[in-house]
Amino acid sequence: MPAFLRLGVNVDHIATLRQARGTPYPDPVEGALLAAAAGADSITIHLREDRRHIQDHDLFRLLPVCPVPVNLEMAVTPAMVEIGVEARPKYICLVPERREERTTEGGLDVAGNLAAVTEACQRLAAAGSEVSLFIAADAEQLAAAKASGAPNLEIHTGGYADAEPGPAREAELARITAFAREARALGFNVHAGHGLNTENVAPIARIPEIVELNIGHALIARAVFVGLPAAIAELRLAMARSSV
Ligand code: PXP
Repeated sequence: MPAFLRLGVNVDHIATLRQARGTPYPDPVEGALLAAAAGADSITIHLREDRRHIQDHDLFRLLPVCPVPVNLEMAVTPAMVEIGVEARPKYICLVPERREERTTEGGLDVAGNLAAVTEACQRLAAAGSEVSLFIAADAEQLAAAKASGAPNLEIHTGGYADAEPGPAREAELARITAFAREARALGFNVHAGHGLNTENVAPIARIPEIVELNIGHALIARAVFVGLPAAIAELRLAMARSSV
């Protein structure tokens, strides 16, 4: 594990629980402050177009009080780019979005939407945010990402996380490892996330080119039982196990 491997805590699913009843609690902003106090290096929120969990007011309440950088995940649409430009979080991660999906199922098709992605990257960077593209470990997407001018990449680890432990997972790991090396050689800061948990995180944390992991669902699910600080500590320990 690189000594500086950062953990970004995604607090979307605190808002999922709140939205289930329409109450003011549990508040993802309070969760973000707790996570930061428990050692999160950044806080990630995904403002989805259907607003199923995080709401606009969460973003604008979080930004002025969060003691660590905020990473806003959003789709590449004119309306979302306007919000990103207005909010100016430290980091923005552009992700694909389909309304009917349960979660972000694939990587962003940068190659198929290069003009729109490049324009979004330029506008968001001009407003002051550092942009990342959430992509699958795919050579065509990597070349397009380079052309877009984005400085950061987040590798979609969902395929790795869903694969059965054994040869299938090893193959996914090998693909991600090689891709991370190529992306770093092209100058990207390389992040990874999706589906990671205490059981599967160590091999990903061991990839030296990856400097940041973004983890949400499994962490919040565990926090329901043991609390957010303990769940973060367990995850940190699992990440650190990669280096012993
Ligand atoms: N990174 C990105 C870009 C995502 O869209 C998500 C899911 O919102 C995550 C990381 C975190 O995935 P998970 O909730 O499965 O940990």
